[in-house]
Amino acid sequence: MDSTLNDTLTRVGRGTPMGDTIRRYWIPALLSFEIPDADCPPVRVKLMGEELVAFRDTDGRIGLVQEACPHRRASLYFGRNEECGLRCVYHGWKFDVKGNCVDQMNESRQFADKVKLTAYPALDLGGVIWAYMGPVGKIPAPPKFELTQVPETHRYMTKVWQECNWLQALEGGIDSSHAPILHRKLTADTTEPGIPFDSPFAQGAAPDLEVENTDYGYRYFGIRPMGEESTYVRGYHFVMPFTQLRPTGSAKAIVDGHFWVPMDDYNVMVYNWGYSYDENPLPSEESALRESGNNFYTDINVENGFRSVLNRDNNYKLDRRIQKYETFTGIRGINAQDRAIQESMGPIVDRSQEFLGPSDKAIVAARRILELAVETVKDGGDPPGLAPTYYNIRSAEDLFPKDADWHKGLIARMYPATPVSAKSP
Ligand code: FES
Ligand SMILES: [Fe+2]
Repeated sequence: MDSTLNDTLTRVGRGTPMGDTIRRYWIPALLSFEIPDADCPPVRVKLMGEELVAFRDTDGRIGLVQEACPHRRASLYFGRNEECGLRCVYHGWKFDVKGNCVDQMNESRQFADKVKLTAYPALDLGGVIWAYMGPVGKIPAPPKFELTQVPETHRYMTKVWQECNWLQALEGGIDSSHAPILHRKLTADTTEPGIPFDSPFAQGAAPDLEVENTDYGYRYFGIRPMGEESTYVRGYHFVMPFTQLRPTGSAKAIVDGHFWVPMDDYNVMVYNWGYSYDENPLPSEESALRESGNNFYTDINVENGFRSVLNRDNNYKLDRRIQKYETFTGIRGINAQDRAIQESMGPIVDRSQEFLGPSDKAIVAARRILELAVETVKDGGDPPGLAPTYYNIRSAEDLFPKDADWHKGLIARMYPATPVSAKSP
């Protein structure tokens, strides 16, 4: 890939080709619990290179507005959230959730109707506050992934700040071949998190990949020979522009997934989530483990912008003894392992220096779809994945006899006829 295309695909500021493309979708901006109640304290949100604050007004409506006060640029993070508006504490200008200036305490002759704050439409769905930052009149259907339609007891939703460009985090997530290597346990006799030693994922051979384009992105399969007798197939979805659904490696009716949301060109908020789609809530020990970070042990510092205590400043607390005897990396936690490796590639990986192989097929496919979407938007068209065709998708996996036709059976499970969203009123 040449450097110009690398720039196009990775940079997300307002007015950049990819920035304009991603702004056509609903974008996760923060977790719902960060602004739990009416008149709660405002929180800072860094999204798509923009500095914003989020708050919930007296009537419970969500405000997602520019952080800098339009008067003389003081931060509205320090503002007072009072009586249906956020008031700048410097000179008392006050703004409603739509960005209208409704009061100016320091002016004897007010001109509030001439002042406007950038404000984005937002909705609260599935434990996430979603923002629409694109052109007026082009708001897509709400992002009703099946995840958002299950009861709260059936879902977990976490996020962690990662210090690299969003695209290399996404590519790390859709890269199936690394998982049983980077996340390998060296022994069954360890309490460290990792891909279970005796699972088909760990026991299978290196995969062949098949990618099939869809109108929302693509679905793809990691196909791994298991001994002489069987084939282990994992079926995933990539939903434009930054969502993945993946099988969990357990027999339960659970889907795992991620949103890789650009904070700016050099930082990404990684949303880690999962849900159960049958009548069983997520087992509490499972939720606890997952909610404590990213599926496994990591300690997320909410006050510090959701940065993990395992970070580049301390080499993710890499333990060389554990690396020798227990896990492939010696770093504790699957997502911490991903984060360490993806951040090690640099703030924006130089894709002109790569040496790709067939196992990178899904990554190449994602880049191509993103590139085409950018061109489409530049020409005034709609990128793929705006229509609600992804509402009924699930990941799935199974073990098949060696020469069986696995495709049909797996596809039926990846597009259930009655997803939870169809059952809810
Ligand atoms: S800077 Fe906000 S009111 Fe003056
Ligand atoms: Fe990984």
